[in-house]
Amino acid sequence: MTYVVTDNCINCKYTDCVMVCPVNCFHEGPNFLVIDPDECVDCEACVQECPAGAILHEDALPLEMKNFKELNAELARGWPKITRNKPELPDAYRWVNMDNKLELLIR
Ligand code: F3S
Repeated sequence: MTYVVTDNCINCKYTDCVMVCPVNCFHEGPNFLVIDPDECVDCEACVQECPAGAILHEDALPLEMKNFKELNAELARGWPKITRNKPELPDAYRWVNMDNKLELLIR
């Protein structure tokens, strides 16, 4: 089982999640973070930390977000690990409440 970062993270990237992960399973892209499902230990610590509410358990993903589980796995294979938090993206406050941001993902 794994937790999954969904599109609420895109263009926000607050990175609060990174600081509480006991196994450093987050990987960083230009405007999105993902969780490596092979490393996630299902602890749930990151869920409460995300100001964007972007992290869901795979079993709680709504139908239209099921594809994010595979997207996290795919991108985690190519993106570097992030183990420390950093400032959010400059316009995070503008994007945090917007839905359906997948088309804005930068790979
Ligand atoms: Fe993204 Fe939330 Fe982490 S916005 S970087 S999943 S704290």
